[in-house]
Amino acid sequence: MGEPIAVDHTARSVRVCAVDELAPGAVTKVNTLPAIAVFNVDGEFFATSDLCSHDNSSLSDEGYIENGEVECGWHMAKFCIKSGVVTAPPAKTPLRKFDVRVEGREVYVQVPEGILIRG
Ligand code: FES
Repeated sequence: MGEPIAVDHTARSVRVCAVDELAPGAVTKVNTLPAIAVFNVDGEFFATSDLCSHDNSSLSDEGYIENGEVECGWHMAKFCIKSGVVTAPPAKTPLRKFDVRVEGREVYVQVPEGILIRG
């Protein structure tokens, strides 16, 4: 049996980390299904789907971050982290975007309905 999964019926804020736990140029993964990647781009936080839209590589585990883009480690598609748009093939579909907010010194991502928050 796998770990228990809670079904999220409404969008909700999920704490990602403290601001100083995610340095500029770094990424972390939120424990949702499908996973959400949260990036620090020059001190601003952005969230996208973690899976590459080409063939489902984990961008937080296997991607490379440079100049506000994440490059997939499998076939080198690139995406703009801020917008999710494809900036280099072979991917054709943008990454899904998620709202991020900073409250005090904590980073939160808004997880919409339909994405499971792993318990
Ligand atoms: S899985 Fe990302 S480019 Fe192919």
